Amino acid sequence: METNNKTVNATITGTGMYLPEKVLDNKYFEQIVDTSDEWIMTRTGIKERRMLEEGGTSVLATNAVNDLLKNTNTNPEEIDVIIVCTITPDYSFPSTSCLVQNNIGAKNAWAFDLSAACSGFLFGLQTGASLVKSGHKKVVVVGADKMSDIVDYTDRNTCVLFGDAGAAVMLEPTEDLEYGIHDSILKSDGSGKDYLIRKAGGSALPTSVETLEQRLGFVHQEGKTVYKYAVSGMAGVALEIVERNKLTGDDIAHLVPHQANIRIIEATAKRVGIPMERVMLNIQNYGNTTAATIPLCLAEANKAGKLKKGEKLVLAAFGGGFTWGSILLTWS
Ligand code: UT7
Repeated sequence: METNNKTVNATITGTGMYLPEKVLDNKYFEQIVDTSDEWIMTRTGIKERRMLEEGGTSVLATNAVNDLLKNTNTNPEEIDVIIVCTITPDYSFPSTSCLVQNNIGAKNAWAFDLSAACSGFLFGLQTGASLVKSGHKKVVVVGADKMSDIVDYTDRNTCVLFGDAGAAVMLEPTEDLEYGIHDSILKSDGSGKDYLIRKAGGSALPTSVETLEQRLGFVHQEGKTVYKYAVSGMAGVALEIVERNKLTGDDIAHLVPHQANIRIIEATAKRVGIPMERVMLNIQNYGNTTAATIPLCLAEANKAGKLKKGEKLVLAAFGGGFTWGSILLTWS
């Protein structure tokens, strides 16, 4: 890698996405747990979500990156770094990013996974931007999660919420500092660990007959508590990043929030002063896809030609850890 002494910004130069074909609608959940389409829609905003039937998260990530390569007309050998943000890696090691690197033939890339749950993509984007600023030319940041593997389909509190997806962006340097990633606020607070956790399956509590019997290898969420922290955390950092850059909600063309609950998204938009028409939403179609929600919103909007050069975007997320954050960028 050549060290680049010039001042550059990292900017998103392309997007890609992958959605598995199988659709689980709310009617399906009415048949397997005590729930209703009406409860799910009014409490969360979710109508449908996708499920990957074969293979691990690397399938979601590889397909998303292949779409990105096609959309950006990139030869995989040009890629310098691949970051896969995920909490559902294929294996504890090797990393899912190494599997993707091999699948796509990115012979010159180094690759690593990043774990920050629903904030993973924002943490990955900031990490990728730093790598671009330090001289890397093409950094691929992927958000991909196969939540269907760690969701308990007997627990109505969580099973209706999550879905599977992968999405990716390309980060490259720009010398025009009006564009690209301008600012980020990223936060962690591990004291929230017990409220949103997969208790078994890691080194603290390896999978055993007992953990299987007690269903400890699945997502556990104390919804009401997480909701409270999510609203104050996500809205707080989104407002802070707008204010500290001397902007108002009127200057922001699109709020791109993590898609966990429509009510959290509405509260965030209201706090920042952005009308819902300028908020990217796909929770109704895909549910909470963890690290994939934000790049999926970007990829869908980009594909539909809804992102215009010079528009300011605020990305915001909250998730397990706790982790949360916001990123301000200008689309190029
Ligand atoms: O992405 C990572 C960060 N995660 C989040 O941001 C999620 C934050 N939390 C939430 O989005 C919401 O708390 C949930 C959508 C998870 C739950 O909504 P809520 O309005 O907070 O409901 P609740 O957990 O307080 O439950 C209210 C009632 C309970 O029944 P009782 O105890 O009042 O009789 C639940 O058992 O709703 C019940 N309930 C359900 N009823 C029908 C919970 N899940 C369901 C369900 N169908 N699927």
